[in-house]
Order: sequence, then structure tokens, then C-alpha cells
Amino acid sequence: MYKTWVEVDAVSLRHNFLALTKHLGKGVAVMAIVKSNAYGHGIVKVIKTIGGFASEYYSEAKPPIVWFGVDSIDEALILKKSGIKNPILILGYVPSAMLVDVVRNNFRVCLYDIPMLKELTRLAKKMRKKVFVHVKLETGTHRQGVMPEDVSAFARALKKSAPQVIVQGAYTHFADTENPKSRYYKEQLLAFQNAIKIFEEEGVRPQYLHTAASAALLLYPEAHFTMARLGIALYGMYPSPEVADKVKKQVALKPALTWKTRVAQVKTIPAGKTIGYDRTYKAQKEMKIAVIPIGYWDGFDRGFSNNGAVLVGGRRVPIVGNICMNICMLDITKLRGVKPGDEVVLLGRQGRECISAEELASRISTINYEITTCINPLIPRIII
Ligand SMILES: Cc1ncc(COP(=O)(O)O)c(C=O)c1O
Repeated sequence: MYKTWVEVDAVSLRHNFLALTKHLGKGVAVMAIVKSNAYGHGIVKVIKTIGGFASEYYSEAKPPIVWFGVDSIDEALILKKSGIKNPILILGYVPSAMLVDVVRNNFRVCLYDIPMLKELTRLAKKMRKKVFVHVKLETGTHRQGVMPEDVSAFARALKKSAPQVIVQGAYTHFADTENPKSRYYKEQLLAFQNAIKIFEEEGVRPQYLHTAASAALLLYPEAHFTMARLGIALYGMYPSPEVADKVKKQVALKPALTWKTRVAQVKTIPAGKTIGYDRTYKAQKEMKIAVIPIGYWDGFDRGFSNNGAVLVGGRRVPIVGNICMNICMLDITKLRGVKPGDEVVLLGRQGRECISAEELASRISTINYEITTCINPLIPRIII
């Protein structure tokens, strides 16, 4: 029994995985993006679940393996400790002093500058190992990446680093494919193709070329190349409302996550009394409230103060007063029979009602990604 917990529906994960991979051409490899605690769904449990049905997509590949994309060496080490053997690509920054762990554990790493290449080469020589890298090419998002004007020199440096450093992949990331009206991705694709051509001229031929995350996977087959990176859509959420409008008839995703807590206390508040810190809510008449043990520490944003609802007994009830660190209050005046221990749904379905990550996101002017990734990782995740 938990006070607050997250349920992740394995059937929905499988549905999303298969619905998305159906769009990929034969032989296109899949990388499940499981960074940020698998977008809040629980990294270790999610990878084990996905690993279980990867073979349904890779029926012809031997072995049937899905890649996992993480942000940090810490996440990569968590995966390794869990015992999985799948290849792991670290997409984010690895401090130089930690590259030794990359080499030691055979993690694949995003490479985008010469000092990092030199250090990886030195370590690989010293440790008598090979290191597999995926070169990140800058095409217009302007975060990590080799600038277009540096691609030739970079390719020559890569050649000098062989055979210790093996360029297994080359990739880029789109800036605004979440907006289906934008054509900017075309410029980025062209820049990527130009860079790959330069690589080829210099004799650098990565096995995996990848540009598509969820939005491009759903919208642009020309961006699929030989690998696709499945993030938000794998968890059953669309990358944006605009992409949802465009594709949801063909690809019906199922949100996999339900976030639950319980009623801690039920009480009657006399008219005129205020609720919570800063006294931002005043009872206009006698009212009944439920206290629930959830707050901004849990990842329930303080922006939901007097601005949102949760589900109790299959009904929407408003949040009243400010969200505290570990507690918030609900107006349950219209409900009967609510008692301590009753289940409360913060995100997901209860009876006929549903609160989506998109609804929560729009209440606080953010995106669905932030809603689920901010759920405190210490809250238990249960695969159902
Ligand atoms: C490099 C990279 N690839 C793929 C993804 C997955 O993107 P999405 O969740 O939109 O599928 C991300 C997410 O931030 C990313 O940074």
C-alpha cells in the first residue's frame, strides 16, 4: 500500500511501441528514449517492459534489440546495474573525468567536440578497448553539435582516432517539428545530409543515421534514416496539440501513466475561514474539504494553486488554496462519503473522468513533457 504512487500500463506502452514502429521502414532501428526517469514513468521498470516486446518489431533481427537513449552517465549506470544488455546511448553531457566510465562500460556516447574525442581516444588506448560514438551534428537547434563549417576537420580527426574510436552513429535533433506548419526541418535535413556527404568523402560511414524523435517519426518518413528515437509518443502522449490534431486519426496513442494519491483527512470548514498558506482561498459558505498528501516536492506544480482539479470518486473536484510542499486541499462539498484512504487521481483516468498531462500543462503554461518528467523519482512506480 502506498500513499502516493504512479501506475504505468504495460499494455498501453506496448500499444504505443507497436503503433509507432509500424511507421518505420524495414530494418530501421529503434531507440527508446528513457532519459529523465523514462519521462517520469520509472526508468528501470520501463526498460524491462519495453525489452519484453521489442522482439515483436524486430522479428527478423538477431538479436531483437531495442536501443536505450539516456541523458547522463548516471542514468546509463542505473540501466547497466539493472542487468540489461541492450546498447545504451548517452545523449547529454559527460564531464571529462567521467568518460572513463563510458569506455569501461561500453556505453555509446554523443560526441561533438575535439577535446572529448582526444580524451576518448587516450582512454580507449590506455584501457585497450574500443569506444563507440554517435556524432551529433549541428543543423539548427544550436545546442550540442559539430558546426557545419567544422564537419570536414572533425571527420579527419575521427579517422585519426580509429581504430580506438568507432563512429557507429551520426545524428541531429530538430528544433520545431512539434509545429507541423514549420518547414524549418527541411533546412535541418539538408544540413544533415550535407554533413553526412562530407563524412563519406572523408571515409567516415556511420551505421546508424538518426534525426527523428516522436514528431518527425509521425510526420516525416524522409527523416527516418536507419534509426528513430522514440520519446514522448512511446508513453502515449503527442509531442504537441498540433501534431496530435494532424496524426491522431492514424496513430491513436494511449497514455500509459496514472498518478494517484489518497485522502488523508476530511473536514468541515466554517464560512469565512481561509485555506492554506497565504490565505489565498476563503470559504464563502460552510464547505467540506479533503486534505491530500501531495505537494510541489512530489512534482505537483505550485501553479495548480486554486487552479485545477483532481479526481475523487470518479468526479472532478477543485484544488483550493496554495499547493504546499507536501500537502494540498480539495473542495469536496458536493461529494458524499469521501473518507481517509480513498484513492485520488491527479493525472489519468478514474471512472469516466480523465485529467490529461496536456490539461495540466495548459493550466500552468507548459508542455506535457514537463508534467510527467517532474513527478518526483522517489515516488514508487508500478507496472500494471
Ligand atoms: C536528442 C533527443 N532525441 C530524442 C528525444 C525524444 O524526443 P520526443 O520526446 O519528442 O520524442 C529527445 C528529447 O528531448 C532528445 O533530446
